[in-house]
Amino acid sequence: MSLFYSSLDLPPASRFPGLSSNGAIYHERMARVLDGAAIAAEIKAEVKAEVERLVAQGIRPGLAAVLVGNVPASEIYVRSKVKTCEALGLFSELITPPETVTTKEMLALIERLNAREDIDGILVQLPLPPQVNAKQLLEAVSPDKDVDGFHPVNVGRLQTGQPALAPCTAEGIIEILKRSRLPIAGQNAVVVGRSDIVGKPTAILLLAENATVTVCHSKTRDLGSFTRQADILVAAIGKPALITVEMVKPGATIVDAGINRVTDRAQFQRYFAGNERREEAFLQKGSTIVGDVLPAAYEQAGAYTPVPGGVGPLTIAMLMANTVRAAKLRRGLPA
Ligand code: GUN
Repeated sequence: MSLFYSSLDLPPASRFPGLSSNGAIYHERMARVLDGAAIAAEIKAEVKAEVERLVAQGIRPGLAAVLVGNVPASEIYVRSKVKTCEALGLFSELITPPETVTTKEMLALIERLNAREDIDGILVQLPLPPQVNAKQLLEAVSPDKDVDGFHPVNVGRLQTGQPALAPCTAEGIIEILKRSRLPIAGQNAVVVGRSDIVGKPTAILLLAENATVTVCHSKTRDLGSFTRQADILVAAIGKPALITVEMVKPGATIVDAGINRVTDRAQFQRYFAGNERREEAFLQKGSTIVGDVLPAAYEQAGAYTPVPGGVGPLTIAMLMANTVRAAKLRRGLPA
């Protein structure tokens, strides 16, 4: 249920937070928080139940995660992916080639994984070191095991409305909207960011759900004139707090896919002034995470995904779902 109240719904005396006649606390405008962690937990529970059914038929879906070198953020993500496999009953294998690995060695590794019967999904964590030809590598992954949805065959299938393995974050964004019962068809959706991993596939999936989709990017002139038209605003451009209050249509749904680390005190103050809990955590850790949307702008929305705890948790949940789906498709089972 949306907690959005337009100021027109309330008498003038009620334009500030207080108690209504029935005792309920109201605000002039109160955005609904879309709890990504709860939605991800729901999806993971469904995946776990499906894995149990498959295991009972002698099929244990398996994921190979390839982590090259020592990028700290990648290490955290990949370990979390492997741990989630274990928690849901999937087989997983972590492969860690050294930072100095060549394209040829990586191609040989992918070939071995493509041929393995116990591996249904292959994930090559990005970014890769500069000497490795990432495009060539992602094309070498069998499209049937491409649980990241990065292979041109899957991109093409998605684009043409055929069954495809789609990029996990984009799938997660659609799941958040659907499971929160937010309408997509006929809505003006504006995607800010055009990456192959998030922006482009999210735009394609929104279009497949019959939204009217606009894609904006770093060269878009007068970005606010587009974002203000958005009923669904997806921010996925990797620029901290780029979307400000006046760029959001009141009552819109904001999906913030940004994950930007903030270490600078003045920058922290610009984004989080007055947020005592954040400040305490920031002082303790020396950093915090901000999305692509200024936190104050969330309050302009009807609903929004927080950072952290919004889109982030969905990425791993959808990777698990894609691995199970790949396992079923490869064996000709309905998926
Ligand atoms: N690096 C950042 N996001 C992703 C992702 O979704 N998949 C892979 N393989 N690498 C990433």
